[in-house]
Amino acid sequence: MTSVAVLAGVLITSLAGLITALVMFTPHPRRRTANERFFIDAVTNERTEFEIAALEPPRRTSQNVALSVVVPAFNEAARLPQMLNDTLDFLDARVKRDKGHSFEVIVVDDGSSDGTAEIAREIARKRACSQVRVLVLEKNRGKGGAVTQGMLVARGDRLLFADADGATRFSDIELLEKALDKVSVANHGIAVGSRAHMVRSDAVVKRSFIRNFLMHGFHAFLLLLGISSIKDTQCGFKLLTRRSAAEIFPRMHVEGWIFDIEMLLLATWHKIPIAEVPVTWNEVDGSKVNLLKDSVRMAIDLLLIRFYYFTGLWNAFKALDAQELEEKLKGSKRKSE
Ligand SMILES: *[C@@H]1O[C@H](CO)[C@@H](O)[C@H](O)[C@H]1NC(C)=O
Repeated sequence: MTSVAVLAGVLITSLAGLITALVMFTPHPRRRTANERFFIDAVTNERTEFEIAALEPPRRTSQNVALSVVVPAFNEAARLPQMLNDTLDFLDARVKRDKGHSFEVIVVDDGSSDGTAEIAREIARKRACSQVRVLVLEKNRGKGGAVTQGMLVARGDRLLFADADGATRFSDIELLEKALDKVSVANHGIAVGSRAHMVRSDAVVKRSFIRNFLMHGFHAFLLLLGISSIKDTQCGFKLLTRRSAAEIFPRMHVEGWIFDIEMLLLATWHKIPIAEVPVTWNEVDGSKVNLLKDSVRMAIDLLLIRFYYFTGLWNAFKALDAQELEEKLKGSKRKSE
């Protein structure tokens, strides 16, 4: 009897402790440092302050482009050049064909130590390409943080993010665009690239058993969390309308690589239509995923995401205005002055 009471006491105390800790240490994206408010033009070497553009409706000015491509890049000096060349080849050709198209590519160097930012600028210089902007994060945030920071300064009517390793064939963006045309309602819509169609193909049979097992476990988990309709949440190739991006990215919290889940949860709660589109996928060498460790972390992160929203520590609907967002993101100017 007493041992049961002691056990219950211990359980309740540790539960209360855990919840207190969760509430006290609820993560919020770190503020930008002073230098993270600028990008350096590759061609002219000019330093320009970014505007937080995400909440503004598309203005028809010379600044606006039809498409923004955000490329999060952490130590991608080896793989980024090829990906960037493929992307720019495709987009340049399209602009030549159709003068109505315009674009920008925002490379977000996520605190790399291998010269990723300089390599991105060098490619832009070599190609005399003025549409590449490089945003350098001084401290690593994680893929989600890098994508979000890029999205917040993007000026496109549509916004794509694409992995720096070039695992997706870039021209498949046309598949996403078609799907987005079809699915979007009142300028709201997301088209997510998907590798789910490859599950029974050679590419995946060659994957290890443990990998497939974890993938199915992850799907079951997502079902519990309420993202039941999307088979492949983690593909780094997603296209959003500006209106949808403005609804989602200012409200993002997760800066790690499972940010896709928070993004899709927010989209679901905001009733944004989502299309899942099969894309060509080449698994690239040098994948940075540590399967077992990442799966465990992912499970914990997913539960935490639900916990933070459930308890209201994070808010999916609170209206944000541009000033408030600027305030939230603003870095202290002290550091570089
Ligand atoms: C990318 O394009 C530039 C300019 O055309 C070229 O100098 C460079 O070698 C290319 N890099 C790769 C990896 O294809």
